[in-house]
Amino acid sequence: MCAKTIDTKDITYESLLQGNKDWVKDTMDNDPTFFDKLSEGQNPPVLWIGCSDSRVPANQITNTRPGDIFVHRNIANVVVHTDMNLLSVLDYSINVLKVKHVIVCGHYGCGGVKAALGNKQVGIIDNWLRNIRDVYRTHEREMATTKDPDQRFDRLVELNAIEGAANVTNTSIVQSAWASGQELAVHAWVYSLKTGIIKDLKVTCTCLDDVAPAFKVG
Ligand code: CO
Repeated sequence: MCAKTIDTKDITYESLLQGNKDWVKDTMDNDPTFFDKLSEGQNPPVLWIGCSDSRVPANQITNTRPGDIFVHRNIANVVVHTDMNLLSVLDYSINVLKVKHVIVCGHYGCGGVKAALGNKQVGIIDNWLRNIRDVYRTHEREMATTKDPDQRFDRLVELNAIEGAANVTNTSIVQSAWASGQELAVHAWVYSLKTGIIKDLKVTCTCLDDVAPAFKVG
């Protein structure tokens, strides 16, 4: 990608604009038609639902380029069925862009999940993270039997991604796509900040049979 890397402490308003110029130059040197092709339209095969955490950028960690992944990020990659922002992204990506994969990607060490594990009041964000407390409650038995705090934290990160993917699957958007024969797989992944490796949590859903009866619509 960009030849120059900038030390975080040296990031300034001006350095971001300079970084952009450097990136454009590198990109054009590598492929003079890159922006011409990209400006014609997008056809990404993947929707990524990830955490806003600055250390988990969808493109870099999957070695993909602009145009490859449609992205939605929020704190702790929460998927709730009343979130119009997320539902709009989901609807557009599935019904217009016709993505073939929806990936909910959590990450170990997620500050949002950690906050939800504690009882400290933070602010408005507590209401958002309340969704992760619901995940904890849904899996209370497993959480209670996982005594090691680090393991419990890691597992809640995984369960939050798994429940997020299930919530994607439960939407009428995904179910309608499957009912009409559209090819679509919903996955849950988790990324390690320590190794850079993504783990597939192996809960992929690909058809209406994968929807829990209580959530079936249509
Ligand atoms: Co996070």
